[in-house]
Amino acid sequence: MTVLPSSSLQAAAPWLRADWRPDSGQVLAVRGGRPLEGVYPISGAKNAILPLMISALLTPHLVTLRNVPASLDVAVLSALLRRLGTEMHWSTTASGLSVTLSADRLQPGSIDGELVSRMRASVLLLGALLARCGEARLPMPGGDAIGLRGIDFHLAGLRAMGAEIELASGLIEARAPQGLKGAEILLPLPSVGATENLMLAAVAASGTTVIRNAAREPEIVDLAHCLGAMGAKIVGAGSHVLTIEGGAALTGAVHDVVPDRIELGTLACVAAVTDGEILLRHGRAAHLGAALSAFQAAGVDLCEEADGLRARRSADGLTGIDVVTQPYPGFATDLQAPTMALLTLAKGASAITETLFEQRFLHVGELRRMGADIAVHGRTARVRGVAGLHGATVACTDVRAAAALVIAGLAADGETVLTGLDHLDRGYDRIVDKLAACGADIVRR
Ligand code: EPU
Repeated sequence: MTVLPSSSLQAAAPWLRADWRPDSGQVLAVRGGRPLEGVYPISGAKNAILPLMISALLTPHLVTLRNVPASLDVAVLSALLRRLGTEMHWSTTASGLSVTLSADRLQPGSIDGELVSRMRASVLLLGALLARCGEARLPMPGGDAIGLRGIDFHLAGLRAMGAEIELASGLIEARAPQGLKGAEILLPLPSVGATENLMLAAVAASGTTVIRNAAREPEIVDLAHCLGAMGAKIVGAGSHVLTIEGGAALTGAVHDVVPDRIELGTLACVAAVTDGEILLRHGRAAHLGAALSAFQAAGVDLCEEADGLRARRSADGLTGIDVVTQPYPGFATDLQAPTMALLTLAKGASAITETLFEQRFLHVGELRRMGADIAVHGRTARVRGVAGLHGATVACTDVRAAAALVIAGLAADGETVLTGLDHLDRGYDRIVDKLAACGADIVRR
């Protein structure tokens, strides 16, 4: 392994510096109108890395994760895990950031409420801590304000496995004094987080757990691969029924994080909207699910190459399409906002229906400030393509809304200034540097 000098490690993962704090006062200035060209390396998936890091709590042995995205969510989870007694060793190789986690001296005690309130995925600590320590005490999790985001499926599943759970004063107190037991669980919806939480709990439970109506996202499959490398017996990952034979003693593992399909889709929109051509290195077309054909229909050409996908606008230009968000392999809700930014500049009209989250149209008002023609009726946004967008000062309200505003800014005339950058940094690994390397006029200030 080539270990680069520590300055490059700190550039990749700045939170490793003891004095590092997120700079919430910064803004991002984007000047649009340049076609972006070059190579954009797709990082490990934002929504895979968090459950993977938490899976390391299931074993006293070393778990090494490679291709880790250097995102703010990873920083927040690292701080949480450190407080639980997990040791982490970071390194960089030519192929990216790696972390080795050691949870042999795990202390389930104090979990920082402020950190938990910043990240929805912290609820996954519940399954892992119950499994490893038989108890967990966690503040109610936070995360992006995109909908109600209950955790009832998580709690019902863990209770079915024998956990005693009480909710009081914003705290979740869970115990499994007799240990967790395998159970038959039917999820009301294929919830990504609930599937992950129950997988983490089930690998340590005694007996067999069957999760029906399980989520099928590539991040679920990635977690199953990592747990499998640790010795867990999981069958059916990627299908609606997961069968987990619990109780195997888990070893350490080395695992490469799956490439981020949402970063891939976001950057495909960037290439098309700027009329550029970008090789999205490591991108996997199959992981786009229904977004692949939707993009093609909208005029985003995606050609598979040996080491990724080449994205550009089709010769016929951008065309309006209708999109309905659905669990994987349906059109990803996380690509709804980026796609809307693209469609503001397409010929004709588009209808975008959001079925997963109740409040995931907060970017609409900001896109309108930039000249977009969008009307919202209930859960559907109707977009009429306009000839051009113009720069404005706009606020990021969640991670994908932030991405949508970057896309719009890269296509707009004049300067767009984005505030609320924490949202962008939560999910997009070094996006400013990577866009600048493709020729974008983009700078933090
Ligand atoms: N739901 C419940 N009760 C539950 C769990 C879910 O009502 O106990 C509802 C939610 O309110 C939502 C729906 O079920 O309406 C689906 O939620 P899901 O549990 O699948 O979402 P999640 O696990 O909270 C993950 C991603 C999201 C992504 C969704 C859907 C992570 C950390 N987050 O959230 O990512 O939108 O799956 O694919 O994995 C993002 O990256 O921008 C993001 C928000």
